[in-house]
Amino acid sequence: MGHDRISALELVANLPRGLYVDGRWRDSSTGARSSVHNPADGTVITDVADASVADAQAAIHAADTAQKHWGATTSRYRAELLRKAFDRVIERTDDFAALISLEMGKPLAEARGEVTYGAEFLRWFSEQAAHLSGSYAPAPNGGYRIVTARQPVGPALLITPWNFPLAMATRKLGAALAAGCTCLIKPAPQTPLTLALLTQIFHELEVPAGVVNYIPTVDAAAQSRALMDDARLRKVSFTGSTAVGSILLHQAADRVLRTSMELGGNGPFIVFDDADMDAAVEGAMLAKMRNAGESCVAANRFLVHTAIAEEFTERLAARFEALIPGDAFDAASTVGPLIDARQLAKVTELVDDAVAEGARIRVGGKPSGGEGYFYQPTVVTDVPDSARIAHEEIFGPVAAITTFDTEDQALERANATEYGLAGYVYTRDISRALHFAERLETGMVGVNRGLVSDPGGPFGGVKSSGLGREGGAEGIEEYLETKYLAVQL
Ligand code: SIN
Repeated sequence: MGHDRISALELVANLPRGLYVDGRWRDSSTGARSSVHNPADGTVITDVADASVADAQAAIHAADTAQKHWGATTSRYRAELLRKAFDRVIERTDDFAALISLEMGKPLAEARGEVTYGAEFLRWFSEQAAHLSGSYAPAPNGGYRIVTARQPVGPALLITPWNFPLAMATRKLGAALAAGCTCLIKPAPQTPLTLALLTQIFHELEVPAGVVNYIPTVDAAAQSRALMDDARLRKVSFTGSTAVGSILLHQAADRVLRTSMELGGNGPFIVFDDADMDAAVEGAMLAKMRNAGESCVAANRFLVHTAIAEEFTERLAARFEALIPGDAFDAASTVGPLIDARQLAKVTELVDDAVAEGARIRVGGKPSGGEGYFYQPTVVTDVPDSARIAHEEIFGPVAAITTFDTEDQALERANATEYGLAGYVYTRDISRALHFAERLETGMVGVNRGLVSDPGGPFGGVKSSGLGREGGAEGIEEYLETKYLAVQL
């Protein structure tokens, strides 16, 4: 049965809220704790242990000690463990959804969607684990054999964001464990509870001590610096802003650490004049309003052909107006709050700046007021290039619309950004769609589809949007080295 707010709080009261290091739950070495808030009303939900640098060092010691054994387990064993974790997460869908809703704010129905999405990464990587392969071939000039084998990179630091507290964790953890890497996983300070439950599931499944270490902290900079300076750490995977990703990349350079970076986006959403209008509006709702726009693959800039711009805007505005911002546990709510006061202030500033630069508000345009960090679902049109919103990631429920007349104009505008994560194109002409998608400077393109995210697809960006891919056949590669043996016969 699904949770209401009261039973969700009871669930929290029974959750382990310490650190998980070397196979056991414990307090932080300093005794420090940090509060977790409900973004729907700003109230404190609970607190969790706050890992110190010494705790992080204990975790890397445990992960390094466990690596030798874990890396030597059979891939079948790891596959079965991940498959059992998938089953457990699905069994506890209501619990995970309640925690996600409580600490992150998305409506329960959407949180349940994240549980399915997040669990699927565990199943996907359980399937990938069992198919790790190598190769055997004669050397081109003869005389010996070229043999390749795949080996785990080694202990990996996984730094996860608050917007999808379960799915972004399983996407990293599933790949790392499948490859044979031990892990140190750090949740965002806003959303540690979901990951505490996931860690508890691995504990119940008797994952060997040191293989999964959970180290929440509010001082992410000190923690990651200490870990990345430690010769035992071999890999960092980060999802978050380009600014922080760039700092981590500089730090990683000192020790030539392997990195995977899923960073910011500025997704263009292009609608041609021959597009199926129903599908384009539906896709726009998904690409923009999934997670209240708090997603790095969210559509940030709508580029709509002049001939259909008014009809598209009117229909999108009507859909935005019908949305109901509200508490996640209220069945009527269709859109949640932003994560915190900082994010609310940022979205407010971006829209105010666009209006000052000449953009026009079609619907919404300000914070909802009252408790919590809600911003009205907003459509702005006539957004000039000088507006910040045309260049910066919004991460909120705001659709910024501009028009174009020719395909080249649309492409030039779409690519006029340092980012290159996801883009979307709507047209009935499949040849135009593919030609356009090929020239779009993004790692992912939704073609007549407003959602690209799928455990079976390689998720990742180009330009300042990151390095590497998560999910798909590529995801596990991020945690593997290729060992080459030259074998003289
Ligand atoms: C993200 O916003 O970081 C990823 C969202 C997704 O996987 O769809």
